Amino acid sequence: MFEHLQPYAGDPIFGLNDAFHRNTHPNKINLTIGLYYDDQGRIPVLPSVQAVQRRLVDDPSPRVYLPMEGLASYRSAVQRVVFGADRKAVADGRVATIQTLGGTGALKVGADFLHMAYPESEVWISDPAWDNHHAIFAGAGFKTRSYPYYDPATKGLAFHAMMECLRGLPSRTIVLMHPCCHNPTGVDLSREQWGEVITVLQDRGLIPFLDIAYQGLGEGMEEDAYAVRAMVEAGLTVLVANSFSKNLSIYGERCGGLSVACGSAAEADLVLGQLKAVVRRIYSSAPWHGGHIVAGVLNDADLHACWLDEVAEMRVRMAEMRRQVHAQLAEKLPGYDAGYFLSQRGMFTYSGLSREQLLALRERHGVYIIDSGRIAVPGLNSGNVGHFTDALADVIGESAR
Ligand code: LMR
Repeated sequence: MFEHLQPYAGDPIFGLNDAFHRNTHPNKINLTIGLYYDDQGRIPVLPSVQAVQRRLVDDPSPRVYLPMEGLASYRSAVQRVVFGADRKAVADGRVATIQTLGGTGALKVGADFLHMAYPESEVWISDPAWDNHHAIFAGAGFKTRSYPYYDPATKGLAFHAMMECLRGLPSRTIVLMHPCCHNPTGVDLSREQWGEVITVLQDRGLIPFLDIAYQGLGEGMEEDAYAVRAMVEAGLTVLVANSFSKNLSIYGERCGGLSVACGSAAEADLVLGQLKAVVRRIYSSAPWHGGHIVAGVLNDADLHACWLDEVAEMRVRMAEMRRQVHAQLAEKLPGYDAGYFLSQRGMFTYSGLSREQLLALRERHGVYIIDSGRIAVPGLNSGNVGHFTDALADVIGESAR
């Protein structure tokens, strides 16, 4: 019945992560997947999360189905974290929010919702992109296209080319963007650049869809949400997919949110109804356990403060690793410009390493980086950063000889 099917080529990120675990190199380093590891190379269970989990173990409440839109206390917490605690749009009831199965689930529900509302629109995604963005929107029935984003010559933003492209898009085109910690490049827009993007989105009548999976891991919890809040304040209708996978270190609990900031409370009600309809026909409702963990941390003043400190620790550690790589490469590879380790931010850095260099890193040194050259910074720690910079110096030095 199914023998005619094509074999699944595998996912470039998950596939290489699996290959890493099969490798037996004694000093292997996993820089493939966007998971946060601490300085001992462990995926942390945050004390704030543990405190709520202990309460949940003793909580005799039945594990009922959540409503299609998710837990009410979770949804209001998402609105406070993403849109700001005292923002008018939230107070006015203009934001429709649902609990979703991680950030990926938020993108999928958002994609299905948009396809119902604007089936003829195209979805424009940054070049390069997180591969799954194209897959999710194409899977929802959209034609996806790419706008320029990264300039390999500067390892920075191709801002003028991006703006030229956005200025040429027809009204109601969907534009997918990362408000912070761009995946895969780590290259973000400045506040002034966001201002120019907002003007074009307004002038052209475009539909921004913001994917914020790393809030708190770039500049700070509030700072990283700047673009979301600036768009809402400018009066744009904007979709926002957020994830708690990384900043609460609860990947497998599948906790995210989808919010649509609308022009009025009545419009937000209509949108919420349609989001519920989409959820019902895909998976009916989001998980009880993950929902209560997030709501438990974010709605308790002490645990919330503890969580902000925990996220700050992750952010500071990654910035420190970037500094150490930069300093070590200055010594081990004089003449090589490793400034991108400092200018790019968040979990990822886009190295520009060639396919041959990436293979040599894997085979000779056990250093695993995905084929695009995206380095997942949290795989580095004080115990392995020296081996990493030795390995880079070897393969980059070899290409230069
Ligand atoms: C990544 O980009 O590595 C993470 O977001 C994990 C994933 O789902 O791909």
